[in-house]
Amino acid sequence: MNRENVPVGPPAPPASIFSDLAKEDLEALVSTFRRRTFGRGDTLVEVGGPGGSVFLIESGRVRISLPGSESREVTLAHMGPGDCFGEMSMLDGEPRSATVTAVEDTVVLEGTRSDFRRSLEKSPRIAMSLLVMMSQRLRAANDIIESLSFLDVQGRVARLLLEIAAKSGTETAEGLSIPLPYTRQEMANLVSTSRETLTRVLKNFERLQYIKLQRRKAVILNAPRLRLKTQ
Ligand code: CMP
Repeated sequence: MNRENVPVGPPAPPASIFSDLAKEDLEALVSTFRRRTFGRGDTLVEVGGPGGSVFLIESGRVRISLPGSESREVTLAHMGPGDCFGEMSMLDGEPRSATVTAVEDTVVLEGTRSDFRRSLEKSPRIAMSLLVMMSQRLRAANDIIESLSFLDVQGRVARLLLEIAAKSGTETAEGLSIPLPYTRQEMANLVSTSRETLTRVLKNFERLQYIKLQRRKAVILNAPRLRLKTQ
């Protein structure tokens, strides 16, 4: 639920996926946007809901997800400052394609469909930035489809751990130390399984000495073995 809905002067545009745009283009784009503040756990957009606006994240972090049966859900993406969401309904006029939830206190700039469409029609550079962003999301969605179609749950967990390692792993004497800033439920949603199954897989990897679990961290002890699970 939204806690504030503050009309803004010209908001400072966040550094963003639109970062290739000239400053004037970006300022023009967000000049009519409103700043809104959401608390952790608030729903900003609900799947199936009406899509009248587009959002740019100024600060905080949101999760894009699809609800499944039996309170399961799959996480499609996490987004942070500078990222944009809500563009799909804005473009095709269909209901919202996913649910967007704040995973921490989040401030967004919200623009109306008509304002954003006007900016797109005026500026080919804005339109091109949007196309690049959507291509990148399609690639990421293809990766999710590939994982779900071809890997079992052990493979999906192994892939997630290796992806985190590639992005933010640090070498230690023991192995590659990786941050795990997710709850077990959030991790389960990322690999589309239940919390219980995820916990069982992690424990199994630990028993096999592929990984060592620590508080909010893990150490990858045997990356080649993990990689084998993803093939
Ligand atoms: P919209 O459909 O208007 O509302 C939900 C938003 O979630 C959607 O626009 C996109 O901005 C975002 N979204 C939907 N699917 C994905 C995905 N696979 N990856 C990243 N973002 C997505």
